[in-house]
Order: sequence, then structure tokens, then C-alpha cells
Amino acid sequence: MSNLFLWLLCLSSLILGHGVLELEASHHVSIHLQSLSSAATSPNQPYRTAYHFQPPKNWINGPLIYKGIYHLFYQYNPHGAVWGNIVWAHSTSTDLVNWTPHDPTIYPSQPSDVDGCWSGSATILPDGKPVILYTGINPMNQQVQNQAVPKNLSDPFLLEWVKSPYNPLMAPTPMNMINASSFRDPTTAWLGPDRRWRTIIGSKRNRRGMAILYRSRDFTHWIKAKHPLHSSKDTGMWECPDFYPVSTGTQNGLDTSTIGLGVKHVIKVSLDDTKHEYYTIGTYNHVKDIYIPDKGSVDNDSGLRYDYGKYYASKTFFDSAKDRRILLGWINESTNATIDIMKGWSGIHAIPRKIWLHKLGKQLVQWPIVEIEKLRSDQVDLPSTLLKGGSVLEVSGVTATQADVDVTFDIKNFEKAEVLDPSWTNPQVLCSRKGASVKGGLGPFGLLVLASKDLEEYTAVFFRIFKRQNKFVVLMCSDQSRSSLNLDYDKTTYGAFLDVDPVDEKLSLRSLIDHSIVESFGGEGKACISARVYPTLTLNKGAHLYAFNNGTEGVRISQLSAWSMKKAHIN
Ligand SMILES: *[C@@H]1O[C@H](CO)[C@@H](O)[C@H](O)[C@H]1NC(C)=O
Ligand SMILES: *[C@@H]1O[C@H](CO)[C@@H](O)[C@H](O)[C@H]1NC(C)=O
Ligand SMILES: *[C@@H]1O[C@H](CO)[C@@H](O)[C@H](O)[C@H]1NC(C)=O
Ligand SMILES: *[C@@H]1O[C@H](CO)[C@@H](O)[C@H](O)[C@H]1NC(C)=O
Ligand SMILES: *[C@@H]1O[C@H](CO)[C@@H](O)[C@H](O)[C@H]1NC(C)=O
Ligand SMILES: *[C@@H]1O[C@H](CO)[C@@H](O)[C@H](O)[C@H]1NC(C)=O
Repeated sequence: MSNLFLWLLCLSSLILGHGVLELEASHHVSIHLQSLSSAATSPNQPYRTAYHFQPPKNWINGPLIYKGIYHLFYQYNPHGAVWGNIVWAHSTSTDLVNWTPHDPTIYPSQPSDVDGCWSGSATILPDGKPVILYTGINPMNQQVQNQAVPKNLSDPFLLEWVKSPYNPLMAPTPMNMINASSFRDPTTAWLGPDRRWRTIIGSKRNRRGMAILYRSRDFTHWIKAKHPLHSSKDTGMWECPDFYPVSTGTQNGLDTSTIGLGVKHVIKVSLDDTKHEYYTIGTYNHVKDIYIPDKGSVDNDSGLRYDYGKYYASKTFFDSAKDRRILLGWINESTNATIDIMKGWSGIHAIPRKIWLHKLGKQLVQWPIVEIEKLRSDQVDLPSTLLKGGSVLEVSGVTATQADVDVTFDIKNFEKAEVLDPSWTNPQVLCSRKGASVKGGLGPFGLLVLASKDLEEYTAVFFRIFKRQNKFVVLMCSDQSRSSLNLDYDKTTYGAFLDVDPVDEKLSLRSLIDHSIVESFGGEGKACISARVYPTLTLNKGAHLYAFNNGTEGVRISQLSAWSMKKAHIN
């Protein structure tokens, strides 16, 4: 993929609550705009997901809620597989699970966006009006920031948007030192006590990634601040930045303008160089207008991530209807473009996640929105069971290609935990070296999903417990190496360290399985790993679901519930 193409990935989903409207994005090349409602149902689509959002064809974008209706905007090129003239397609939902398509809303139409309407965010002004800020590409191929407002505020579907005659509102100039090729993805704006709005825009200077800060009194005239809100050396271009407050005492979400006691702030960036996202937790000094990560934060690609698998161009929004902050992210295919064109679609959205600050304040926690549980059926429960070393236990009774499974392990005996070599600091590398088929002491134990009967194919999501001095270290892995007999796709293994003390706490794992995606949540949402897989043997004979333990020490499953998942209505 060319660089140009990659940039486009970070495009647009728009979410809006009563207080705040937001927008994230993911670009793409598409085939026919008209195929919006036709193509998805074609037979022989074994890898098409059943309850993850995706347009009928092509690449995707994100969601929004206004007057109780969530909106999702995604992008199409009406002129076919050649990139250009991107428009915003649009779906709405009342539950973030089932989606109805509408006509596309925003088209390139002004000099300030004639070569593309890229990612942005939405903000609800105090009078209740939503406003979108989005990146446009002008004929000089410069990235500039534009504004659009709904044409008819009485229309809860927000079908039509009108662009500001002042566009572009923010642009690179020789004076402001902004790199015109590295200036995109404005965030939801926040209002300071001085009654000025702020927004940040992803950028870089040389290798320093940065969040350029702009301020405005009227949301139309924006002035660049002298310093960025935040920057970090050697991180490269920051795409889709996100900046929001989190509550220190509760799991509730906060409106983006909230400051004061009991509030910390988060900055998340999507790194163009590595296609990873990382975040820090810190303090927003609204007088100096700077963000300072907490002491000890790792402010680069080695930092904390929402998801340690595939996950990019994400955005959060405050869902004021349910007092929660919701995270949406985009997950691309692991197959190549030839295959994607053949199947006629590419890219899906992760299940929306509620996101909040962990009570100890050191990391965020994420959990699939509760609405997704409406799709559960045919519950299967396993009684408390000892999984002996080297054993595999089938969980039958659920449709294993389309399932939700939640398991909790209880470990009593830690003697066999392997010693963690201090040089093993990268969990992904550790998971790659110590995959499911490498026997250990305490672990690997976990789930084998999308598995064929004879275990020729499976995706293994598991834990392994190590000892370091007198503490235990929990590794969580998603091992795709045996996910398919098909060799032609990316089967990278992913890993994360899970900040759970297995002596005091039980170890939980939940996986959402949907044909070609496995989204896993360890430690009740302390670490998430999303993987794309394309099994071949499970297509006709059916997939199986197993719990397994390939360590020498036995582990107890204290609880396991699994459900078949119904198909959601998606476009
Ligand atoms: C605005 O939307 C409302 C609600 O859908 C509709 O009744 C009304 O006719 C619309 N007004 C215009 C000018 O289109
Ligand atoms: C501006 O950003 C582009 C895209 O990353 C890069 O190729 C170029 O070198 C940058 N220019 C400067 C002056 O840093
Ligand atoms: C990230 O920053 C840490 C210091 O916090 C440093 O030790 C590490 O080398 C950096 N990693 C990368 C990938 O730049
Ligand atoms: C998309 O998928 C490819 C292949 O797995 C991967 O190399 C790339 O990093 C992904 N891009 C993003 C933005 O996740
Ligand atoms: C367990 O380990 C054995 C020996 O390494 C291996 O042959 C087997 O495939 C492993 N099981 C799983 C589920 O990976
Ligand atoms: C993509 O994968 C297919 C199927 O494995 C292979 O035949 C083709 O050469 C690949 N195309 C590219 C562009 O790598």
C-alpha cells in the first residue's frame, strides 16, 4: 500500500451524545456506491462477520448518537477502486448493535475538501447543536481543517450537513510551521473556563509526534496556540489523536469539557509508523493548556495500548444517554488486497467498548458494551472443572463460529511457574516464542477458538504465568500461527502483560468470536487483543470451541459460560 493509501485509513466515524458528538474514521477505496444495500448477502462469504459492523462492501468508518440515535459514517469512493472523491456514507442505530443504512452525507464540494473529506470529530455546542470538524484535502494536496453543521436540527437522523463558508478554518501556512502533509484528524473540542474552545490535530515535526492545539471563541475562527498540547520524541506522525477526561472514582464517562477534582485526562494517538495505538494517563493543566503524562508513563510505541492485536484509528465519545464513554476502533483484514477485492469488502469495526479508568489509576479498562449481550442465545455453562496439564476440553452446544465465551481460571499452586528472563520485556515477542504449542509450567492455558475437530486449525487465546523475584507475571497471548491451513495471510501472534496478581485474583478471559475475528478481553478488560483469522477446515464441518491447558500444572476453571451469538442487523 502506498503511503497515501495508508493515511486514508484513519477516517471517520461520528458519534454524538447529548453533550458531545464525535467522529472517527477509516478510509478506503470502494467499488460502487450504489451497492450499499445489495452485496452483503451474497452466499459463500465464510469470513464475513455476523455482528461486527461493516458496510456491505469496501472499507469502513465509525458511529455517532444524537437525540437518542447513534450514527455511523463511513466512506466510499463513487468512482470505483481508484482512490479519490471520498464521500461519507451513513448508518444509524438505537443500540450500537443493529444498523440501518442512509444515503451518504458529506461530499467533497469545496476547494478545501475537493480531494477528500477525511477524519474528524464532532462536538455538541452548549445550545445543543452538533458541529463536525474534519480534515479536507485541497487541490494543493494540503491537509486543512473544515467545519460542517446539520442542515435540519429537528431531524434526528441528521441526513444533511452544510459546510461552513469560512472553510478551511485551520490551514498550514509558511508562518505557522505546520507540515501540510502531516496535519489531520481534529478531536472533539472542549470548552475551557475562559469560554474558549480547544481542539487538537495530529501532526509531527521531524520525528516528534505532536498534538497541535487550536483555540476559538466562536468555533469558526481558530488560532493556533504557540505550543502543542502534548508531543513526544521519536514517535513519528500522530493520527487520530483523542483527548478526554476520565473519572477517578467511578466507571462513568465524562463530557469532554469536564475538568476539576476527581478527573484525570487521557491522550491516545495512532502511530502512523507502526500502526499501533498507545495512550498515557495524565493531568491537563488548563491554565497553561498542556497535558502532562503521569510519572513513569511510557510515552511512545512501547506504552499502554487499548488493544495489543489489530486495532487502529479509534475514537471515544461520551454517550450522555448512558453516562459512559465508548471506544470505537477499526480492524483491517489480514489478507492481501487481491483477496479483499475478490470478497468485495475489507475492514470491520470492533464491538464498541465501554472505557474507564481502573480504580488504581494506572491504566484504562474496556468491556464490550452491554447491548451486545442481547445477541446471546443458547447459554452453555460448565461446572467448576480441573483442567489437568496437557488436556483439552470441548465446550459443545454453541455455534463456535459466532460466539461469546467467558471463562475464569482459579490458580492455587504456583510452584511450576517458569522464571521470567529479565530480558523478556516485549510481550508480543514472548508470546511468539512461547506459543500455545510450547509446553510450560503454569500455562499455556485458555481457549482454542475457531478450531477444527482434530485441532489441525485453531486460534489459541491463553495465559502463561511466570515468576519474577517473588512476584508473578501474567502473559496473555493470541496465537494465530495455526489459525488456518491457508498460508497467505498475516498470522502474527500478539501478546500483552496483564496487570493482575493471580494469587489474589481469579484470571478471566472473554472472547467474542465472529467468523474471521477473535476479540479477547483478559483480566476483566485490563488487556484486549483483537485478531483476524481465516480458517478453512471449519467452514463446512463446523467450528469447535475448547478449553485447554498445555502446562504441567493443573488449573481450575471456576466458571465458564458460552453463548451462540445471533446475527445483528447490519445495513
Ligand atoms: C426537518 O426535519 C423534521 C423531522 O424529520 C421534518 O419534519 C421537517 O420537515 C424538516 N424540515 C425541513 C426544512 O426539511
Ligand atoms: C512533512 O510530512 C511528510 C509526510 O510524512 C514528510 O514526507 C515530509 O518530509 C515532511 N516535511 C518536513 C519538512 O518535515
Ligand atoms: C519508549 O520510552 C522509554 C522511556 O520511557 C524508553 O526506554 C524506550 O526505549 C522507548 N521505546 C521506544 C520504542 O521508543
Ligand atoms: C492492516 O493489516 C496488515 C496485515 O495484517 C498489517 O500489516 C497492517 O499493520 C494493518 N494496518 C493497520 C492500520 O492496522
Ligand atoms: C501442546 O503441546 C504439545 C507439545 O508441544 C503440542 O504438540 C500440542 O499441539 C500443544 N497443544 C496445543 C493446543 O497447542
Ligand atoms: C494475494 O494472495 C493470493 C492468494 O494467496 C495470491 O495468489 C496473490 O499473489 C497475492 N497477491 C498479492 C498482491 O500479494
